[in-house]
Amino acid sequence: MSIHVAIVYYSATGTLQEMAERLEQAALAAGASVRRRHVREIAPREAIESREEWAAHVAAVADEPVAEPDDVVWADVVLLGSPTRFGNVTSQFQAFIDTLGPHWSEGKLADKVYAGFTSSQTAHGGQESTLLSIYRMVAHFGGLVVAPGYTDPVKFVDGNPYGVSHATGAQNDAPLDDAALEALDHLANRTIDIANRLKGAPAEAPRPLG
Ligand SMILES: Cc1cc2nc3c(=O)[nH]c(=O)nc-3n(C[C@H](O)[C@H](O)[C@H](O)COP(=O)(O)O)c2cc1C
Repeated sequence: MSIHVAIVYYSATGTLQEMAERLEQAALAAGASVRRRHVREIAPREAIESREEWAAHVAAVADEPVAEPDDVVWADVVLLGSPTRFGNVTSQFQAFIDTLGPHWSEGKLADKVYAGFTSSQTAHGGQESTLLSIYRMVAHFGGLVVAPGYTDPVKFVDGNPYGVSHATGAQNDAPLDDAALEALDHLANRTIDIANRLKGAPAEAPRPLG
C-alpha cells in the first residue's frame, strides 16, 4: 500500500503554495498518495483586498480543496507549512490546528511522521522559530518529528536542518532557488522513506555527505 502524504499549509501570497506544490510533485514521484490542502482563509475581506497579491492568491486557489482534520487522520506523513509571521505561524494555520482537538483526544494524530516548511522575508526573520512552533504542536500530538537534519548534501547548501525554508526577499517575490527545490524533494523523500520503514520496509541508502 502506498504511503499517504498530507501537505497542509497556509499561503497568503503564493510562496508556501509553490513549496507545497513542489512537495506534492516529489511525493507523487516517490509513489505516495497525496492530499495537498491549503488551510481556510479567515482574514476579513478588507484585509485581503488591502494587498493586491494577497487578493490575487485567494482568487487563484478559490477552487482548491481546503484542509480538513480528516486529511491529517488519513495521512502517514504530514507536511505542515506556514509563512513566518512575527517569528511564528500564521493565525490561519493555527486556527486549523485548533480544529484538531477532538482527533487529538482520540489519539488519531499520533504515530505519524511530521515535518515542517516555511518562508519569511529575511533569512534570520524567524524561520527556525516558526518550524519549532510547528514541532511543539506535533509533540502534543505524539507525532514523530522527522527533521531533515544534515542527512543529504543539499542541507549544507540550503542550511536549515529544522525543515525547509525560503527567504522571499525585500520585495517578497524572490523565486525558490535550486537548493530550496532540492531540499523540498529531499524532505518529501526522507519522510516517505521513514514512513515506509515504520511499516517494515528496509532503509534507503542515504547519499554520502562529502
Ligand atoms: C503580518 C506579517 C508578519 C510577518 N512577519 C515576518 C517575520 O517575522 N519575519 C520575516 O522575515 N518575514 C515576516 N513576514 C513576511 C512573510 O513571512 C512573507 O510574506 C511570507 O513568507 C510569504 O509567504 P506566502 O507568499 O506563502 O504568503 C511577515 C508578513 C506579514 C504580513
